[in-house]
Amino acid sequence: MTSDDQNTNGEIILVLDFGSQYTQLLAQRVRENQTYCEIIPCDATAQEIAARKPIGIILSGGPSSVYDETAPKIDPEIYKLGVPILGVCYGMQLTCKLFGAAVESAERREYGPAELTVSDAGRATPLFEGLSETSQVWMSHGDQATRMSEDFETLASTSTCPNAAVRMRSIPFYGIQFHPEVTHTAQGRELLTNFVVKICRSSRKWTMKNFVATAIEKIRAKVGKERVICGLSGGVDSAVVAALISRAIGNQLTCICVDNGMMRKNEIENVAKVFRENFDVNLVIANAEERFLSLLAGVDDPQQKRKIIGKTFIDVFSEEAKKIDGAKFLAQGTIYPDVIESGGKKGGQAATIKFHHNVGGLPEDLEFDLIEPLRELFKGDVRRVGLELGLPEELVWRHPFPGPGLAVRCLGAVTKKALDCLREADAIVVDEIVAAGLYRETSQVFAVLLPVRSVGVMGDGRTYENAIAVRCVSTVDFMTADWSRLPYDVLAKISSRVINEVNGVNRVVYDISSKPPATIEWE
Ligand code: XMP
Repeated sequence: MTSDDQNTNGEIILVLDFGSQYTQLLAQRVRENQTYCEIIPCDATAQEIAARKPIGIILSGGPSSVYDETAPKIDPEIYKLGVPILGVCYGMQLTCKLFGAAVESAERREYGPAELTVSDAGRATPLFEGLSETSQVWMSHGDQATRMSEDFETLASTSTCPNAAVRMRSIPFYGIQFHPEVTHTAQGRELLTNFVVKICRSSRKWTMKNFVATAIEKIRAKVGKERVICGLSGGVDSAVVAALISRAIGNQLTCICVDNGMMRKNEIENVAKVFRENFDVNLVIANAEERFLSLLAGVDDPQQKRKIIGKTFIDVFSEEAKKIDGAKFLAQGTIYPDVIESGGKKGGQAATIKFHHNVGGLPEDLEFDLIEPLRELFKGDVRRVGLELGLPEELVWRHPFPGPGLAVRCLGAVTKKALDCLREADAIVVDEIVAAGLYRETSQVFAVLLPVRSVGVMGDGRTYENAIAVRCVSTVDFMTADWSRLPYDVLAKISSRVINEVNGVNRVVYDISSKPPATIEWE
């Protein structure tokens, strides 16, 4: 299996990752300046870095103290490359220590907002050009640089941090103690733009329009006259991959959509409609609902459900793929965070097959070469590419949906009747969130069918029926999540519609658990 080459339009900024939770955010902020940016491990050598010809380097923050025995180091030759470097937090402290400044542990870890005052010297530098003299910054550090050596000039300070921003006289290095990538740093975006544009002199050509044009050329060159297959799930990544490849090679592409019976209401129909109306592709819809349902009958263990769904998906997909004569390539929606999380290795093996992230991969006897045109994109980039390709907003901004679908939201053993009931309730929940204009503000919203029955009254009669739990969360990374404080009137509307319109439900509850300790899904 092979992977695609990078698609950088010539200029790249490298972020050396010292382990900060914000490293990916830092790279995304750089990319917002139409400049390609990649995260590499902090132990990369100067030689490896020089070979990439970066226009700038950013040293990320990190959880270590520069005095820890196991603290990550940096190849000092990197400072001799003549490339502009921005050290953020740990990246700044590491550099200060290497070049003779004193770095000391503060009495207490400083975490939170602080007011930054930029000095006259600071305001004369391109880093602070156009920024106001004072502004709020976000701090998160234990150590800080105290006494600077000759080579450093202080550019800004806060009341507790005398050297909150510095530059070096002998090399193009800037250091900042605060985090410009988080929104709590009021002028963080502008500061990073200054670094990228004024200091690294990016020509800002990495636009999504250019990305699409280059990606199309590369796909054509790679595929030639061969056939490509692509799994289409209705999710953003697979839809964007399919749209991009279809623009490149038209109906040499066949998309396979496996209907496992666990999808949301009208999901397959909607995705099929978008592709049939806007793209020249062959679309195969494999209706496998009954097969999935019979294999899941009586299975109530969540992991077991996942395993069955994952394996059956692969079986069905493989059977369909084998029917497509002479297909040589398999397109996948691997995106940059998958690549980073799997160790950032180059080559097609790095990212695992992503149809269901809880499943190992396609069987060996399906011998395809991989095409992963989104390998270097963050989710936000993928969405912008989707819009550029003409995909509708609803699809491009869709919340994530788990591979096992409604099966992990229909607690206990699933049946067609229970899934249909959940599907109706779920559609109402999403509908009302969209109608209230809250879909883009929330990260995931859905209904869960609880396998309990409770008493109610409807008309003159007593009911004894199931309950629906509504789950709505906000999160940045899905590792932690907070339950959304939905307005009461939105909750009231959801509740009355679900109870009135969905057969078999007489009670609605709202899930007010955060992650951790709860997970986002109920199973
Ligand atoms: P949890 O429930 O672990 O979910 O807080 C975190 C995110 O992962 C999604 N999720 C899954 N996605 N297959 C998937 O493709 C799965 O088995 C699975 N389980 C959870 C979940 O929807 C949320 O976005």
